[in-house]
Amino acid sequence: MGTTFHSHHQTTKPRYFFMKKLIPWTLYIILPLALLHLYLFPLSPSPPPNSTSTTISDSSSSFTATTTTAAAASSSSSSSQEEVADELSQQPPSWPPCNYSDGRWVPHSGEPLYRGTSCKTIKEGQNCMAHGRPDTGYLHWRWQPQHCPLPPFDPAAFLRLIENKHLAFVGDSMARNQLESLLCLLATASEPELVYRDGEDNKFRRWLFRDWNATVSVLWSPFLVKGDEKQEALGLNYNTLYLETADERWAAEVEAVDVVVFSFGHWYLHSAIYYENGVVLGCHACPEFNHTEIGFFDVFRKAVKTAFGEVSRRYGNADKLVVLTTFSPAHFEGEWDKAGACPKTEPYKQGEKEMQYMDALMRRIEVEEAAEAEKGGGRVKFEALDVTEMALLRPDGHPGPYMHPNPFANGGGGGRVQNDCVHWCLPGPIDAWNEIFLQIVRRWKKSEGK
Ligand SMILES: *[C@@H]1O[C@H](CO)[C@@H](O)[C@H](O)[C@H]1NC(C)=O
Ligand SMILES: *[C@@H]1O[C@H](CO)[C@@H](O)[C@H](O)[C@H]1NC(C)=O
Ligand SMILES: *[C@@H]1O[C@H](CO)[C@@H](O)[C@H](O)[C@H]1NC(C)=O
Ligand SMILES: *[C@@H]1O[C@H](CO)[C@@H](O)[C@H](O)[C@H]1NC(C)=O
Repeated sequence: MGTTFHSHHQTTKPRYFFMKKLIPWTLYIILPLALLHLYLFPLSPSPPPNSTSTTISDSSSSFTATTTTAAAASSSSSSSQEEVADELSQQPPSWPPCNYSDGRWVPHSGEPLYRGTSCKTIKEGQNCMAHGRPDTGYLHWRWQPQHCPLPPFDPAAFLRLIENKHLAFVGDSMARNQLESLLCLLATASEPELVYRDGEDNKFRRWLFRDWNATVSVLWSPFLVKGDEKQEALGLNYNTLYLETADERWAAEVEAVDVVVFSFGHWYLHSAIYYENGVVLGCHACPEFNHTEIGFFDVFRKAVKTAFGEVSRRYGNADKLVVLTTFSPAHFEGEWDKAGACPKTEPYKQGEKEMQYMDALMRRIEVEEAAEAEKGGGRVKFEALDVTEMALLRPDGHPGPYMHPNPFANGGGGGRVQNDCVHWCLPGPIDAWNEIFLQIVRRWKKSEGK
């Protein structure tokens, strides 16, 4: 992927990029505006206050295979849990790691570890199977790294790795999408117990895997830095960001967290005014203001630096792991509001789809900043979970129209069908992000000798 990116980069300079305003603006403004509600997720009605916790604790699932695993896993002595962990640690511990991002999607006849019908914590909009998505081919691909094996996700091993630890996902709806994949994967070994919830549409939630005293949480922070989200209902149709200050909603919690996964970026495509140290730095997609258009790439880099700086400051030299999941490309084709806006049912072949300038640059910023932070990180480990290329190859993995139940019932309403070509079906390709994430956590624990 490196060569593709570099050649692309050399021919597409930022100046050229901003001169070509019309094209990017169509892409980066109209589309995101139209999709804003996806990120704000008002589409699925919030469940009644007690419903999630009751369904979560209802373990009377008829999913025999997983209940067996669960029983085995939770009743197993810690020595057999060690075995599971040891099994995964055949390869010698190494840092820097094997490049899991260098690989391809290969056909796989096996079944996903979980089903939409068996996992209780899938957000409505990503529950493609339950919403009537007819094709199942997208479930039968595995990510195969070029130079190292990627073992299938082992839920008991993962829980063992985060025993007595707190793992937090921080960011936007992509962070939540990855969290929900992980919860479904882990739930096949042990039911998560929802122990805390707060915020509109449960933007702040925490689960406990009691047998392992393992805590997993999600914290909403679409910019990672301090910011005011646009509120169209109030006529506020741009975001305001304060680039030098981390968002206190996660920063205040992070000291108690052992493993942080940041995942964000899509909100940076929206109209925004940027402040730094009390001064307006410029804005993006802001014709109504007399501020300089500065795009969002430099600003995004500053935000990553601020977030990493904040965790470094708060963690000091503690044994912590900070992961940044890289930007995940959208796959809209044709008109975003028409049926089949991401109609593909198979992955792209390698080299079939060139990465867009924006996706490539967002990823590059994240990879570079993670490497930079790792250099000075001491015992705090920083690593990019580089999923951009593997995500790019999976146009078939999005809910598309199946973000809603049975979108084509009654002839599809005869008009516009809303499509989600940003988030991922569960189960789906995003489960592979967590297979790699497991390896990152495992290596971190080995390197720290824990
Ligand atoms: C939620 O649970 C609490 C405690 O179990 C109970 O007192 C309350 O009535 C429940 N609320 C609803 C809406 O079911
Ligand atoms: C991993 O491989 C990908 C794809 O070849 C490449 O783009 C990336 O730069 C590599 N990462 C590292 C850390 O070498
Ligand atoms: C349980 O996990 C938390 C981290 O989430 C840790 O602080 C605490 O010490 C653990 N409790 C025990 C008994 O190990
Ligand atoms: C916009 O800013 C420029 C440069 O600061 C200034 O010359 C101009 O008068 C401003 N226009 C308005 C409408 O405020």
